[in-house]
Amino acid sequence: KQLDVDPDAYDAGEHDSFMHKEMLEQPTAAARVISGRLDERFGTGHLGGLNLDARELRAIRRVKILGCGSAYYVGQMGATLIEDLARVPADAEPASEFRYRNPIVDPDTLYVAVSQSGETIDTLLAVQEVRRKGGRVIGLVNVVGSAIAREVDGGIYLHAGPEVAVASTKALTNSFLAFAMLAVQLGRVRDLSIADGRRLIAGLQALPDQVGKILAGEDELATTAQRLAEAESLFFVGRVRGFPVAREGAQKFKEISYRHAEAYQTSELKHGPLALISPEVPTVAIVPDDELVERNVAALHEIAARGGPLVVVTHEGVDLGGLSCERIVVPANERELDPILLTIPLQLLAYHAALHLGHDIDKPRNLAKSVTVE
Ligand code: G6P
Repeated sequence: KQLDVDPDAYDAGEHDSFMHKEMLEQPTAAARVISGRLDERFGTGHLGGLNLDARELRAIRRVKILGCGSAYYVGQMGATLIEDLARVPADAEPASEFRYRNPIVDPDTLYVAVSQSGETIDTLLAVQEVRRKGGRVIGLVNVVGSAIAREVDGGIYLHAGPEVAVASTKALTNSFLAFAMLAVQLGRVRDLSIADGRRLIAGLQALPDQVGKILAGEDELATTAQRLAEAESLFFVGRVRGFPVAREGAQKFKEISYRHAEAYQTSELKHGPLALISPEVPTVAIVPDDELVERNVAALHEIAARGGPLVVVTHEGVDLGGLSCERIVVPANERELDPILLTIPLQLLAYHAALHLGHDIDKPRNLAKSVTVE
C-alpha cells in the first residue's frame, strides 16, 4: 500500500515550504495529540487505544522502541521518559537493524513502533518479526490505517495532520507527547505518585503554548542559522535527556543543509572529538537547567578555550560563567518534558541554514519522505 498523502493535494499557503508550515502548526498539532487523553483527577494518561488494561500494563518489564531516522531519535527521548517516570528499563534501536541480529523477543516486553507514515518498510518488518515471535507491539503512528497501524496490537495515533516535508517536525513533537503520556500511564500503575502525575499533566497542558513562544522567536534564530550554515562541519552536544535532542538536531542539519553535523555526548568530548574543535567548527550545545548544568557549562568552557564558536540552547537564568557564546533561551517546563522544547530551535536552525544555502527544503537530495523498499 502506498502513502495516503498526496503532496499535490496540499498547499503550503503563504509559507515557502511545507517544512515551515508544519513547524508553525506544532502548537495546534500538539494540543490535538493530548486532547481527551489526560486524566487530571488521577494524574495519569488515558490512552484507550493501547488495548492494555492496568494488569497488563503492570506486567510489562521492559520497553523496546523501534523506528528509523527521526522516529528513532524521538524513540530515544521516549525511552528516557519511560525510565524516568515508570522506572521500567527502556531503550530504542533503529528498526532497520533490529531484525538482522536475531533479536530476543520476550513476552514481558512491550515493543513500541514509531512511524509518521506508518509505511517505512524497516519498521514494518521489525513489527512483523516481533509479532511472529509472539511479542506485543503498539504503534505511535500518524497516518491512520497505514500498514504499521494495521499490523500492531494497539497504539496511540499522533493526530499531527498530514506531514509532507521530508524532515519531520510536528509528527516528531507529537511522538514525544505520546511517549510522555505513555510514560505517565505506565508510571501511575507503578510508583509514580499522584502529585507527580498531576505535575506532568499540567506540564503537558502548558507545552503547546510554550512551543508557540519558541516559534515566535524565529527571526532571531535565522541570523544564527545563517552563521552556522557557513561552517563545513558542526557538533551538536547534549547529555542524558539532552543527548537525543542533539542527535535529532544534527540529523535535521545534515538532512536539509547538507553540512556535516555530528552529535556527541558533552561528557565524551574530552575523550576524542575535542581534537577537532577550532574556530571553523561550531558547536550547538543543549544545556537545560537540570542536575547536569554545571558539568555541561564546564565542558563548554573547554570548547571556548580552543576557539570553538558556541550556540547554547538553554533556560532563563542558567549561569554560563562568562562563556562567550550565542544564547538561545527556551521556556522551561517540567524537566522530563523539556527535551521537546529544546528540540524546536534546532528545527528552526536547520531550516534557516537550508533556506540561506538555497536548498530544496521539502525534498532534500537523495532522501524520501517514506522509504517503502528495503
Ligand atoms: C525517512 C525520512 C526521515 C524519517 C524516516 C522515518 O528516512 O527521510 O525523515 O524520519 O524515514 O519515517 P517514518 O514515516 O517511519 O516516521
